[in-house]
Amino acid sequence: MLDAEVRELMQPFVLSDYQVQEVYSRFCLEVARGLKRSTHPQANVKCFPTYVQDLPTGDEMGKYLALDLGGTNFRVLLVSLKGHHDATVDSQIYAVPKDLMVGSGVQLFDHIAGCLAKFVEKHDMKTAYLPLGFTFSFPCVQLGLKEGLLVRWTKGFDCAGVEGEDVGRMLHEAIQRRGDADIAVVAILNDTTGTLMSCAHRNADCRVGVIVGTGCNACYVEDVENVDLLRADFKKSKRSVIVNAEWGAFGEGGQLDFVRTEYDREVDEKSINRAEQLFEKMTAGMYLGNLVRLVLLRALERKLIFKQSSRRPEFAGVLQRNEEVFETRYISEIEDDSFPEFASTRKIVRNLFGLEKASVEDCQTLRYICECVAKRAATLVAIGVSGLVNRTSNRRVIVGMDGSVYRYHPKFDAYMRQTLQKLVKADKEWDIMLSEDGSGRGAALVAAVASKSK
Ligand code: BGC
Repeated sequence: MLDAEVRELMQPFVLSDYQVQEVYSRFCLEVARGLKRSTHPQANVKCFPTYVQDLPTGDEMGKYLALDLGGTNFRVLLVSLKGHHDATVDSQIYAVPKDLMVGSGVQLFDHIAGCLAKFVEKHDMKTAYLPLGFTFSFPCVQLGLKEGLLVRWTKGFDCAGVEGEDVGRMLHEAIQRRGDADIAVVAILNDTTGTLMSCAHRNADCRVGVIVGTGCNACYVEDVENVDLLRADFKKSKRSVIVNAEWGAFGEGGQLDFVRTEYDREVDEKSINRAEQLFEKMTAGMYLGNLVRLVLLRALERKLIFKQSSRRPEFAGVLQRNEEVFETRYISEIEDDSFPEFASTRKIVRNLFGLEKASVEDCQTLRYICECVAKRAATLVAIGVSGLVNRTSNRRVIVGMDGSVYRYHPKFDAYMRQTLQKLVKADKEWDIMLSEDGSGRGAALVAAVASKSK
């Protein structure tokens, strides 16, 4: 049985029906404000047009390179589209060293171009002409399909000299500086766009793409008449365009203050992008573990966990010393654990604190803390998804999902569905589908669809 005091501790994370409805209304308002030219500058859900206007048909063919930059690793991929909704992907992961994440932009792009050259050489394609789709998972103002100006760094990146610049051009210049491969950057896209495209490749009803990984964001298909910022010449021949919501920034106008907890405020205050990406800081993998860490500290202080142990101050020390010590993946492992053995939970506790035998009660408390933090994240994500699903003009809407939190958390999907059931309009038929490598396959598809429409 859980202590009443533990429930009380976690109460601020439990969203009431009223709060869910209120966040939903505020979110929908921000989306509408982001789309409108007159309110866009103040809106915090920016809704950037992506210039991706055609969804794949499944018959796309050809070899494409894709680059995927947006988290702690980046990947280079060779995607062969084979028609009949089929594709094969060959990829290589490269680390982004911490110092490069906060170094100069030129250094970052030189490093990427270097890895790209190695990859092409390994695949014996140094002399082949290769079109490249660049999945760049940060907020960008797109001026066209292959021009994207970085608005701001997120997720721990802070490279000098890139904000306000065209990242497509910076990558192109880095490739030119080396001069050892014939690669053309033909498209820049967000990972959410890649997710939507890769799901649409398999299911024509996909209209929303969502990432809940290191960061959190979504895109959706909107009618061109509603997208004021789309250049007029792009409204003539096509009815719709993918809009990158950049919902991670939701709340920067105070909209979430009525549900943010003291722990959310502390996560924000200690981050390198203070007062920015507030919705992301409540939902994304980069922050969820840290939230649990802060709640655990409070639980230790109030003697709500590890009550039998005299080593509580020492445990608190472990949690205080390192913000990243409680990894987000532990949340998934703990919620996946079986009662009453709690084998994974006990292992995590042993590794963190050197505590050999956590009691069943301790494990239950820890699990409840994780559950409340993850469930709130899933509820918030589902509020956003409902807002976007309800905006689309289709009756049947598939939501394409990806990201480590969604993928590996055993209940994230179920938590999301509970909220979607409450908020999505009754006349819509919806479902969620897991994306297959959106950042790779999706990038190749954007590149392929772009060459087709030329
Ligand atoms: C970025 C988005 C991205 C999301 C998921 C956020 O921090 O702003 O552009 O889609 O992370 O990777």
